[in-house]
Amino acid sequence: MKYIFVNWKMYLGVKESIALAIAMSASYRRSEKAEIALFPTALAMTGVIAACKKKKIPVGAQNCAWTPAGAYTGAVSARMFRAVGCKYALVGHSERRHIFGESDSAVRNKIEACLSAGIVPVVCIGETKEEKDAGKREYHLKKQLMAALQNLVIPRAGRVMIAYEPVWAIGTGDACLPADADDAHHFIRREGSAYTSERMPILYGGSVDVKNAASYLALPSVDGLLVGGASTKKDSLLGIIRAAL
Ligand code: PGA
Repeated sequence: MKYIFVNWKMYLGVKESIALAIAMSASYRRSEKAEIALFPTALAMTGVIAACKKKKIPVGAQNCAWTPAGAYTGAVSARMFRAVGCKYALVGHSERRHIFGESDSAVRNKIEACLSAGIVPVVCIGETKEEKDAGKREYHLKKQLMAALQNLVIPRAGRVMIAYEPVWAIGTGDACLPADADDAHHFIRREGSAYTSERMPILYGGSVDVKNAASYLALPSVDGLLVGGASTKKDSLLGIIRAAL
């Protein structure tokens, strides 16, 4: 089974998100081969959930607060997302880490908040161009995984997913070569197994499009894709979904 996770970032407003969710769900047929999940802006969450209900398409948050409730102006908690029906949340997306300054420890707190709220955290990790060029990719992935997973208590019904998203490949059109993503996924699988006996799904993200999606999905080490830009247009979104079916 492959996952296609659709991250609309702040590209689509409420109307566009609901319209695309309706269009997608109209042509969507459930399959054992793939699980599709939509990650709209928080503002469109309830509308997208309503649009996805009939076809039981899961929905997730792009980010969440690490605390359940209280005086945290502007924040939305994992518990609140769960209460309206979200299944997943992206945690530590590279744009959160690099633009909004989220630290490894903030990411860890969010992972714990998701697990205690009954949300599956999709923990995003990846190296920058400088780290890659300095040959430090594995060091960096190891560090992020350790901060995210060491001594993490995963409830019996809970689950953690990982998205490998090299920072230099996100939104740049410079996708990671499949063989290179394959190496990183194997490394993440080995490192991750030090922290949990569960098999965590590992998704690839970074400039995935309708042309290259199949080349990642063909790899046994790639459990799915996290797609940004190419998921915001109906035709390319449906094309990427078709590649997984
Ligand atoms: P992209 O974004 O597909 O636009 O590169 C992926 C992501 O940030 O999740």
